[in-house]
Amino acid sequence: MPQILAELLKSEQLKPDIFKFSVKAPEITKTAKPGNFIEIRVNNDIEPFLRRPISIYNIDKENGILEFIFQIKGKGTKILAEKKQGELIDIIGPLGYGTFKYNSYKNLAIIGGGIGVFPLYELAKCARTEGKQVYTYLGFRNKELVVLENEFKKVSNNLIITTDDGSYSEKGFAIDFIKKDIEEEKIDSIYACGPLPMLRAVQKLAIEKGLPCQISLEERMACGLGVCLGCAVKTSKSTKEEPQYWHVCKAGPVFQAKDVEI
Ligand SMILES: Cc1cc2nc3c(=O)[nH]c(=O)nc-3n(C[C@H](O)[C@H](O)[C@H](O)COP(=O)(O)OP(=O)(O)OC[C@H]3O[C@@H](n4cnc5c(N)ncnc54)[C@H](O)[C@@H]3O)c2cc1C
Ligand code: FES
Repeated sequence: MPQILAELLKSEQLKPDIFKFSVKAPEITKTAKPGNFIEIRVNNDIEPFLRRPISIYNIDKENGILEFIFQIKGKGTKILAEKKQGELIDIIGPLGYGTFKYNSYKNLAIIGGGIGVFPLYELAKCARTEGKQVYTYLGFRNKELVVLENEFKKVSNNLIITTDDGSYSEKGFAIDFIKKDIEEEKIDSIYACGPLPMLRAVQKLAIEKGLPCQISLEERMACGLGVCLGCAVKTSKSTKEEPQYWHVCKAGPVFQAKDVEI
């Protein structure tokens, strides 16, 4: 996969600690798929040495523009946020073998929580363009943390925003609203990304209801290339005596929910 120096075309601050970057990266956009991620080397100094994995938010194949959104967590993302228009960013991508696959389905439930909503936009956009019904459910802790509402509205047949404390839109967890639509038989497949407790609840629900479900795991990563073995996730075929693992950076980040122990 290509390693490129991508020009930063635009940096937008969506929240005090959340930034959206648009970069020129035709080498990456030409093959990127919903669910892929990139690995960014944030500077040329020794520290931080490891690349940081960030999901692809939007792919503009026609103009070769790639967009990603990130929250400042620590040193790496802080350095990244300080980049200015015109600077070159060292990126490897697209990465990840496991991407969202929705061709066989017609009625998609897309559920995201917090910063896990970012990789779901390209999925919703592609599916909607291809004539699928897209039901989107995005959960945030409170009103201040709600992002991308208008963007998701444009690529969804129906969008439900929830906040844990009810400070904006529906009060509660996004998964509660999926349940209702499953009962009404509106949905034939589920796609999720977000915090582990949310993914576990979605996995359980999908298995109970017998619905196909794909989840994107944003485990901690080091090399991002299948070399360091730092991102292992247990497969559901594991036994106590014989645990079996996949590496999220190689086999994932998107998995069939029934195939992993999370
Ligand atoms: C496949 C994948 C896709 C991702 N996509 C996005 C994205 O689209 N947008 C985004 O904002 N972030 C995303 N992340 C998380 C992002 O990679 C980390 O937040 C980032 O690497 C932190 O780097 P740092 O140097 O700023 O923080 P560090 O100094 O490395 O860590 C600071 C704090 O953040 C925590 N942290 C670091 N990595 C993670 C992680 N993966 N999950 C949870 N906590 C973490 C650490 O435990 C520590 O408490 C993704 C991660 C993966 C594996
Ligand atoms: S991060 Fe190194 S093997 Fe996955």
